[in-house]
Amino acid sequence: MNDRDSELIEGMLTEKGFQIVDDAEKADIALFNTCSVRQHAEDRVIGNLQKLKSRRKKDPNFRIGILGCMAKRHGEMLFKEYPQIDIVVGPSNIYDIPDLIARSTGSEKILAVDKEKRPKKKAAGDSRSGIFSAFVNIMYGCDNFCSYCIVPYVRGREVSRPKKDIVDEVKHLVDKGFKEITLLGQNVNSYGKGLSGKVTFPHLLEAINKVKDLERIRFTTSHPKDADKALFRAIRDLDKVCEHIHLPLQSGSDKMLDLMNRKYKYGDYKEKADQLKEMVPGVGISTDLIVGFPSAKESDFKATYKAMKEVEFNSAFIFKYSPRPPAESSCLVDDVKEAVKKKRNNDLLSLQKKISHQKNRSMIGTEQEVLAEGKSRMSDKELIGRTRNNTPCVFKAGEDLIGKLVKVKIKGTSPTTLKGEIV
Ligand code: 5AD
Ligand code: SF4
Repeated sequence: MNDRDSELIEGMLTEKGFQIVDDAEKADIALFNTCSVRQHAEDRVIGNLQKLKSRRKKDPNFRIGILGCMAKRHGEMLFKEYPQIDIVVGPSNIYDIPDLIARSTGSEKILAVDKEKRPKKKAAGDSRSGIFSAFVNIMYGCDNFCSYCIVPYVRGREVSRPKKDIVDEVKHLVDKGFKEITLLGQNVNSYGKGLSGKVTFPHLLEAINKVKDLERIRFTTSHPKDADKALFRAIRDLDKVCEHIHLPLQSGSDKMLDLMNRKYKYGDYKEKADQLKEMVPGVGISTDLIVGFPSAKESDFKATYKAMKEVEFNSAFIFKYSPRPPAESSCLVDDVKEAVKKKRNNDLLSLQKKISHQKNRSMIGTEQEVLAEGKSRMSDKELIGRTRNNTPCVFKAGEDLIGKLVKVKIKGTSPTTLKGEIV
């Protein structure tokens, strides 16, 4: 979501004549597009801000802007704590950025965090950092209010973009040579809420599946409470929709899921995952898990550990709980010690490593379609890409195949990456 916003900002600014430079020291303006989802992300921005402090002092024309979620979360306070900042712009005010920069002179501070919902308008001068794979926003914001999560407070209420605008954007991308698009939303399964006529996420997938010359459709993220058979059918039946779902479980303990305000029980999740695996053999399921949520006992952790074993995720992102005021759970005492969070985090990581390895091994001998994304970091002679179920795969091939779909026979694997040969 933030990568996509950065592309949009870059597009709006380059259209106005700005240029991206490699080194912040050479820039006339430094913009930080920020994330607030965990404290760690905010700490990194603050560290980078400190590095630019003396430059800002010496050069009164140098501008510093904080954009995105941190801007909305802290607002005016950022100017007080970090006087080197000139501009603070929240995610829903994104389209105002060029005008706000133009207005920013001297010591005037500019704050724009007023909009609660993101306007549906298309940005001018759209730019993309990739050449064959692109992100497409289908909705902004979130109405779910999971108790730990800052997103509804900083990205505002849910707004779906009209289906026609999205399909037109995809067509335009395909005309420019893009092959794979990833549809973005905090909860893609509730797409369509508030739009005229009854339009659902599977309807949108159907419409995009018809776009000529598009090869692959991915999407993220799905909320387990809303993922249903209609979605699973779309994954199974629509040829361009890749067989992968990112379905954040967060915890295997019903008590924790309730405290997290997730609105499902582990049993519901397991049932849906089983149904999906049955309907779409070989489907990749990835997930997010939070360890050390307030009051989580060893037994709650064991439930998550067990869930990881039972669902057999292809991959998992594991996060240590981080209180995010004003999100609801920040009122609960953050009582799981850091060392315990760390241990639980490591235990889940090593279990997942084994499961991923096993899942990958089961793909040995199969033929997989891979979109060659670029050179592998390990060898100049190898390319890397992802299979349809989102597993990274390296294979020997020349650079001329970058951006192409290739058939690869899987010969071996590490816990993270398949090794194949072009068929
Ligand atoms: N602490 C830890 N992890 C969090 N996430 C969201 N909020 C928090 C938090 N306060 C994780 C969730 C979510 C992912 C994007 O980030 O697992 O799915
Ligand atoms: Fe946050 Fe929950 Fe919305 Fe995801 S669904 S963005 S975790 S509030």
